[in-house]
Amino acid sequence: MIKELTITAPDDLHLHIRDEAMMQLVLPHSAAQFRRATIMPNLKPPVTTTELALAYRERIMAAIPSNMLFTPLIPLYLTDKTAGTEIRRAYESGISRAMKYYPAGATTNSDSAVTNIENIREAIDVMIELGMPLLIHGEVTDPSVDFFDRESRFIDEILEPLRRKVPDLKIVMEHISTKHAVDYITSADSKLAATITPHHIALNRNALFAGGINPHNFCFPILKSEDNRQAVLEAAISGNPKFFLGTDSAPHARANKERTGGFGGLYSAFAALPIYAEEFEKAGALDKLEAFASFYGADFYGIERNSGTVTLIKEALTIPDYFDVDGDQLVPMRAGDMISWRMA
Ligand code: NCD
Ligand code: ZN
Repeated sequence: MIKELTITAPDDLHLHIRDEAMMQLVLPHSAAQFRRATIMPNLKPPVTTTELALAYRERIMAAIPSNMLFTPLIPLYLTDKTAGTEIRRAYESGISRAMKYYPAGATTNSDSAVTNIENIREAIDVMIELGMPLLIHGEVTDPSVDFFDRESRFIDEILEPLRRKVPDLKIVMEHISTKHAVDYITSADSKLAATITPHHIALNRNALFAGGINPHNFCFPILKSEDNRQAVLEAAISGNPKFFLGTDSAPHARANKERTGGFGGLYSAFAALPIYAEEFEKAGALDKLEAFASFYGADFYGIERNSGTVTLIKEALTIPDYFDVDGDQLVPMRAGDMISWRMA
């Protein structure tokens, strides 16, 4: 039995770290596992310009423990007003290697997002020229659509027409949660890829209800049925370079999770790599973890793979029940559970 696993230093290509006290808490957890991350720009106010992204990077760098190497890449949060010149500026400054598209109203802090893709046509043309991927939160927001169908409907009604309109644009469909998404991406050309979270491979929608309603497992896209979880897991372990790691770790304080109107998002980053390792191992595919975590994402972005390695050891890790943060608490994914891998 494998007792130790050393892989090329991985990338988390979809990560929320917030700001201030929350960032101080969660960033070291990510930096202990990942060498680089795509840091989501849905702050309040959102990171919509190069200037805001550079200022955010300063705050991030100040919060990274001095013994850790970690490079944040910050996509700009596209709005109806994002100009092509702004995309170019972000690229040339080195801060952005992708751009982020939230359909307005889809998720946490997405109110100022794009209302119609036609409004960012110029920005998209510059992205195509630079080979920058568009990172898409793929859910429709029409309140009449069944909550569990939001992703599938997005693929059929928004993504497919968009890909026909701009076939040269690289697109990452983020945090996929359905068999429909897996099938769609698998059959698409090489311009389309997807990130996969630890929670969408480890949990199905029973996790929302087991032992009573559990808001800590509420996230966007919402957890799906077991057959969908299976399909997403199979995609992750398939060795298909279209599928790569993005935790979508999205920390919210307990008070904002355990209330009516509570926010979506799992704090999965604390033990993300151990959780992926556990799921890959259970599926007999530990040998597929390195490429999923460290190669395919960088290759799709067109950035260099990381140098250096990280080591996981097969040793029990108990996930804390919570972390204290800013007078409140943060409850991590699988709080109180034992995981079979830990970072060396
Ligand atoms: C994210 C957040 O809280 O910022 N929440 C989530 O459930 N994933 C937003 C997002 O990525 O959709
Ligand atoms: Zn996210």
